[in-house]
Amino acid sequence: MKLRQLLLGTMLMTAAGLSAQDNVITVQTAKPGAPVQPTMYGIFFEDINFAADGGLYAELVKNRSFEFTPDHLLGWQAFGKVEIKNDGPFDKNPHYARLRSTGHGDWWTGLVNEGFFGIGVERDKEYRFSVYARVPEGKTQMLRVQLIEPYTNEEHQEFTSADVKVTSRDWQKYTVVLKSSKTVDKAQLRLFLCDENGRSGSGMMDVEHVSLFPVDTWMGHENGMRKDLAQALADMKPGIFRFPGGCIVEGVTLENRYNWKNSVGPVENRPLNKNRWECTFNYRYYPDYFQSYGLGFYEFFLLSEEIGSEPLPVLNVGMACQFQNNDRAHAPATVEGLQEYIDDCNDLIEFANGSTDTKWGKLRADMGHPKPFNMKFLGIGNEQWGEPYFKRVKIVADAVRKAHPEIKIIGTSGPDAEGHNFEIGWEAMKRQKADLVDEHFYRPISWFQNEWQRYDKYDRKGPKVFAGEYACHDRGKKYNHAGASIYEAAFMTGLERNADIVHMATYAPLFSHVDGWQWRPDMIWYDNLRVACSASYWVQALFAQNKGTNVLPVKNSNFPQKGEDGVLASAVWDKDKQEVIVKVANTCNEQKSVNIVLEGVKKISSASVITLDLSQYDQENTVDNPHLIEPKESKVESISPQGGNAIALNLPAKSFYVYKIKK
Ligand code: AHR
Repeated sequence: MKLRQLLLGTMLMTAAGLSAQDNVITVQTAKPGAPVQPTMYGIFFEDINFAADGGLYAELVKNRSFEFTPDHLLGWQAFGKVEIKNDGPFDKNPHYARLRSTGHGDWWTGLVNEGFFGIGVERDKEYRFSVYARVPEGKTQMLRVQLIEPYTNEEHQEFTSADVKVTSRDWQKYTVVLKSSKTVDKAQLRLFLCDENGRSGSGMMDVEHVSLFPVDTWMGHENGMRKDLAQALADMKPGIFRFPGGCIVEGVTLENRYNWKNSVGPVENRPLNKNRWECTFNYRYYPDYFQSYGLGFYEFFLLSEEIGSEPLPVLNVGMACQFQNNDRAHAPATVEGLQEYIDDCNDLIEFANGSTDTKWGKLRADMGHPKPFNMKFLGIGNEQWGEPYFKRVKIVADAVRKAHPEIKIIGTSGPDAEGHNFEIGWEAMKRQKADLVDEHFYRPISWFQNEWQRYDKYDRKGPKVFAGEYACHDRGKKYNHAGASIYEAAFMTGLERNADIVHMATYAPLFSHVDGWQWRPDMIWYDNLRVACSASYWVQALFAQNKGTNVLPVKNSNFPQKGEDGVLASAVWDKDKQEVIVKVANTCNEQKSVNIVLEGVKKISSASVITLDLSQYDQENTVDNPHLIEPKESKVESISPQGGNAIALNLPAKSFYVYKIKK
């Protein structure tokens, strides 16, 4: 459907001009209803699909601390004499590499790092290389640092190079900035041990925490994030930021759960953790998917603040992943053992909000943020269900409430969106007086068609709803095609109509590397240098950017029945912009004539429309073609000279619109 067609099919008219078969969407503008929470639409980050290391976290070196197990050189190719030692300067990451050169003949000693699916570098951009190094024998040595293009016919493969002179017997950090002379999406980092004159003389050097970051990261932070990916998040204007998972919070075992305390403090000494998702690839050899925790809780809080979202951390409730362990809740913590989990919660609140003279508040200040992060929400348990959870969440949540009544607690109704476990989950959360309940639904189109009115009938007196993980998965077509996104848009009008009870909603998963995914669809795709925001991203962004301040009641003359396609709408008032915002999704296979009538308005003075054309079922945005599906904004030109309070539309099949109307 072309924009011109749309504009021709749109005109402002008086309500009296409507025909009987039209869909009439009546918006009661004189009755602004419940506030739309600032947290209403947001993002949920989990390290799945190489979302952290290899994704948002801008570190380009894989296994930088030589801690991957069982192969400490995984991601590295060693040549010459390289040995792994384990008495390094960082007690929680004790391994390092010893490079030795005998000085005989043309032997070279060194290491090549493959990066995460290669290392993406751009011509004329700067990259900060750093390493902890020492020369144990006290003989000055040189480390030659090169960016190389491995699959080239060029003799030496390197295109950018710098030397780092290591002079001390003691561990010291050395840094050099490389300016790349080429754009290469799958480069590698090569290190040569050289003598003082740059030759392969005899000598020895120890290297640890070998790191390479783009200088130009999000907000210029040194331990920073990929700018393009963080920018895509900021552009959405998310109101809530849930992290760090997901099943990652739970772990395959409790030892492997996301332990936030390991993710703060100096990055060099954040201990590596196995990624709970490492064994779920269909096609990858593992173990090669770990969490460096370089992107840790401090960085999550900071990002939240920088993109204007409320942080929503989720912590473990003393249970490993029920889903992964077929509901055996793999060796859950005993009731006595829960104190550790209670401490994790209360210490986290101190880390985020506590004064700088407390233990954890001081750490936050030492890391660079003396001001509190003003955390207001805490998720306790990810996607748990059944009595083992109800018993544990009661103990943990009660203790947190006692210490911090100001924090809003979010419980979960488990992985099902209906049925026995879901219902008893909700009942338990009501008994627990949870502030919000986190619901998850990855469901096919037919489910979305059945659930248009899901929240219309929810109990208004219980906890509020957090639609914490959801996506439309069309059976057999699990990728980010336009065909599923229109159902997400239509369903979200139901979230918005019920914003008195739905206070948060986040699509999932968020990120995916094109060379390293295990779950799809996902909201944002990328390779080492490019990013593609999916059609689902644009649906989320349009809701988040146009969430308004208050719900406006909407009457829909042809509200679709369960299981049917139709025209679905919601409306909000934006008191700051003095605009009525109407969102309309046509999920039908044919064009629909629709009249939007603004009850309580005499004359519409001007209107604009954002169009998201989702009519080509199989279309998707890819890193090669990232702009195929994108919203387009235009002015509604054909305002009737007599004025009027209605907009007559011909809405093409499978399309989503956001009308912004000045009264
Ligand atoms: O989003 C992927 C996974 O789906 C999450 O980790 C989990 O909570 C859910 O099962």
